[in-house]
Amino acid sequence: MKHLLSLEKLPLADFEKILRNAKVFKSERGAHKTSPLAGQTWALIFSKSSTRTRVSFETGIRELGAGVMFLNANDIQLGRGEPIQDTARVLGRMIHGAIIRTYAQSDVETFAEFSKIPTINALTDDEHPCQILTDIFTFEEKRGPIAGKVVTFVGDGACNVPISWIFAAAKLGFELRIAAPKQFQPSAEILKRAGGKIICTEDLQAAASGADMLYTDVWVSMGKESEAAERIKVLGGYQINAALVKLAKPGALVMHCLPAYRGKEIDAATFEAHADTIFTQAENRLHTQKAILNWAVS
Ligand code: CP
Ligand code: NVA
Repeated sequence: MKHLLSLEKLPLADFEKILRNAKVFKSERGAHKTSPLAGQTWALIFSKSSTRTRVSFETGIRELGAGVMFLNANDIQLGRGEPIQDTARVLGRMIHGAIIRTYAQSDVETFAEFSKIPTINALTDDEHPCQILTDIFTFEEKRGPIAGKVVTFVGDGACNVPISWIFAAAKLGFELRIAAPKQFQPSAEILKRAGGKIICTEDLQAAASGADMLYTDVWVSMGKESEAAERIKVLGGYQINAALVKLAKPGALVMHCLPAYRGKEIDAATFEAHADTIFTQAENRLHTQKAILNWAVS
């Protein structure tokens, strides 16, 4: 039994195993030889909105043989203040695994500790491990090993998605460049904890030069809505568009975790030009998360 709480804590061997198995789950969809979750019941406990994560986990869990329930955190007593420790101890006696989307990273860690069932971080304010595992699987599916390559993240460099990218880069040995205004760059403390080759800069053009992949995420993450006006002002210009793509390596991939806000972090024409990659990336959430589920119960 294992938890996926962060990429920071995921051992390299497990990282590689999940990526290898994602390929198998993708190629064998509809004809899986085993049902690793047979007879189980899993729950998704979400405090934030979701399309991709929710649907890919609900589908993947069913395809691996288990039943699944979706619990909006506001609809259960957790939303009225029941402690996470008590929620975890109750659910831990009833269900076999939990997928949690919430604000505080400490909440998924507490849930894992008290429930004693496999617990998967489906996005917190600190990390989005399932997304970045999927993104790396997608990159490697299209371009081969990511080790030694250059990935450029454009936009809010201090939110969950780039933070998971930082820990992945340090572990898998690729160069990560983060192009962001000073106040949206990752903290020195996280960079120190991660190690690896991570370059943070305000110089968007320099960061994009020769990159193998340009990647972006929303400027206003869930929970930051009250800062929207300020973020749109300060992040304005940190956009993936045709001029930026021209600076990257010929044939560079453009990826987006979605949802996308056209005219903000990416322009509409660039989004459409790279829609096939971006929606393959979205589809791959399903295959990669099936590999994560299989790993978590083994
Ligand atoms: N990328 C992602 O996690 O999408 P959802 O918020 O729709 O789950
Ligand atoms: N950084 C974004 C990711 C959405 C999938 C957020 O937290 O809202």
